[in-house]
Amino acid sequence: MTPEEALVAAERNHLPVLCSEVVAALAPQDGDLIIDGTFGAGGYSRAILAAAGCGVIGVDRDPEALTEARPWASLYGDRLRLVEGVFSELDTTPDPKEKVGGVVLDIGVSSMQLDRAGRGFSFLRDGALDMRMGSDGPSAADLVNTAEEALLGDILFQYGEERRARVLARAITSARAKSAIRTTVELSRVIEAASPAKKPGQVHPATRTFQALRIAVNDELGELARGLAAAERVLAPGGRLVVVTFHSLEDRIVKRFLKVRSERSGAGVSRHAPGPQAGPDPSFETLTRKPVEAGEAELSSNPRARSARLRAGRRTDAPALPFEARGLGLPGLALEGLA
Ligand SMILES: C[S@@+](CC[C@H](N)C(=O)[O-])C[C@H]1O[C@@H](n2cnc3c(N)ncnc32)[C@H](O)[C@@H]1O
Repeated sequence: MTPEEALVAAERNHLPVLCSEVVAALAPQDGDLIIDGTFGAGGYSRAILAAAGCGVIGVDRDPEALTEARPWASLYGDRLRLVEGVFSELDTTPDPKEKVGGVVLDIGVSSMQLDRAGRGFSFLRDGALDMRMGSDGPSAADLVNTAEEALLGDILFQYGEERRARVLARAITSARAKSAIRTTVELSRVIEAASPAKKPGQVHPATRTFQALRIAVNDELGELARGLAAAERVLAPGGRLVVVTFHSLEDRIVKRFLKVRSERSGAGVSRHAPGPQAGPDPSFETLTRKPVEAGEAELSSNPRARSARLRAGRRTDAPALPFEARGLGLPGLALEGLA
């Protein structure tokens, strides 16, 4: 396959969500350097490269995503650099002398990851219960077979917003006492057997369990919080941060981060001081008072866009503030030391 054919195939196989809205919010200019922290199938990166004479660093923790892109990436020459890594460290990817004009994050799992049975993300495909986006750390099978029942229940409740979390955690620990749960279908059967029959219009009973395990295995919420702080450190004054989320917990983290960073924290009048107490200067100016959502045309061609929310901010020239997870709404789960 030629690079041109590989590019056509990549464009045909993947529909990026809110793509034109992302490019409009990033507003790339000629000569800019943009970091696409969730490169995936490269849909955003290609649209950014088409919108201006800029450069893009495409970061992804999934080596398979980068391998898929290599056949066509050469068409962009040195305008597109691919880097395997996590976006919580995206401030370490550019050369310190390079001025970064934009960072975009598209949070979640890619269609390639969902479609490949061997990655273990989908209960619709039988495969090893893995769910790791990267190549290290404990898998979903490790978690499901070793975590204490109480922690499993917390994970399902907090990350999956699963109301029957305790019942399902008990069903998992009872099943694994008989034999280890190794595949997506084995886990899905355990959840189905412990759930009331699905009524028409309801999602599959394992949907929330799979989502929760995926978020835990990849520490997705912690990554997001640290990724926002890394973007704050790396963006030049005037640079844009654009984040697309698909889950209310993630949207809340982005919303709170931009709110805290765009207010003069600590402002207010103290009884004991003569004037207003100024906190540090805001490091961002919020560009989206309300989240941007997909329009009718996109929803009809891509139902996955239904839950997408875009928020954006513009970096000021104030120094970056120290990273502080408190106040961002991260559930406090003790995930360290699993498996
Ligand atoms: C929804 S897809 C991105 C799709 C992309 N915007 C496009 O247009 O093709 C999310 C991608 O982000 C990657 N990812 C998720 N969390 C990450 C993290 N913490 N660091 C780096 N990449 C991450 C996943 O491996 C996946 O490939």
